[in-house]
Amino acid sequence: VTYPKSVNALNMSSDGLSLQYQGLLFPRETHSLESLEFAQEFKFRDDDIMAAVYPKSGTIWMQEILPLLLNGGDLTPIQTIPNWDRVPWLEEKRLAVIADTLTAPRAMVTHFPFRLMPPSFHASKAKVIYVMRNPKDILVSSYYFHQMAEFLDDPGTFDEFIEKFLDGNVMFGKWTDHVKGWRSAELGDRILFITYEEMCQDLPAALRQMSDFLGRNPSEDTIQKIAQHCTFKTMKTNRMSNFSLVTKQYMNLEKSPFLRKGEAVCVHHHNLYFFSVCIELCEVSTWLKFTSAIRKEL
Ligand code: A3P
Repeated sequence: VTYPKSVNALNMSSDGLSLQYQGLLFPRETHSLESLEFAQEFKFRDDDIMAAVYPKSGTIWMQEILPLLLNGGDLTPIQTIPNWDRVPWLEEKRLAVIADTLTAPRAMVTHFPFRLMPPSFHASKAKVIYVMRNPKDILVSSYYFHQMAEFLDDPGTFDEFIEKFLDGNVMFGKWTDHVKGWRSAELGDRILFITYEEMCQDLPAALRQMSDFLGRNPSEDTIQKIAQHCTFKTMKTNRMSNFSLVTKQYMNLEKSPFLRKGEAVCVHHHNLYFFSVCIELCEVSTWLKFTSAIRKEL
């Protein structure tokens, strides 16, 4: 693989398990200066499809959904190709290895904030589905993920991790910056905003919305079939999607499965489930502080 020549080396520093690039932290195991610059030089095509997702907001869910929507419900890709090669991350090392094997329309995912999207993306007509998730669920999901992903820093206590999350001292930066950046991106009808919660509530409806946006017209049977294959329960058993193909040194699924709970905690404080999560992890008052800090930023 030949990577383009580094042009941003001065913006790059490295420390422990993460790299700093353009003011953001990236896990060194999956990202490198070369991969980040490969992304910057990547040539988007008009028919490319991108899911932009802040980490722990439904990325691998989209890696399951997109190939099914784009291939009329054909299960072959999701049953034979691991998620990271099926719908690769724009910014990860793996893209340079497999880019030439992707067939049109190419589907990719990215955790990049909008400001890091490459010039060719802006010049193209490539479409983007931006998936948002309740930050409380992202925080909890990310906390468990940091415990099982051996290539990430130890998250410390949950209260310490809350502070890091609110300060944006986590991979891919502050959640509020990510959401605000993509929401104010002037992409017109090239972008669709959807939430993880909507997907949990009514997946077939979310799939219909996505297929309309992508100019596809699947039958109701196909929608139902895709929805069935993209449930949390089914994906948990798909070896091509549940990260059971990776080594324990990389992700220790005994500490926490990648597909951990797959639920949407209601944002309302009176919700019983919400309280049970609070009590499990920290004081209710800490949660309330978290919620008000996020509200203030947005
Ligand atoms: P939890 O840790 O709350 O279970 P990402 O892929 O962006 O890293 O996001 C991972 C989160 O999405 C995990 O959340 C995971 O369980 C959830 N997820 C993945 N596939 C899902 C599905 N089919 N239904 C619901 N949640 C799903």
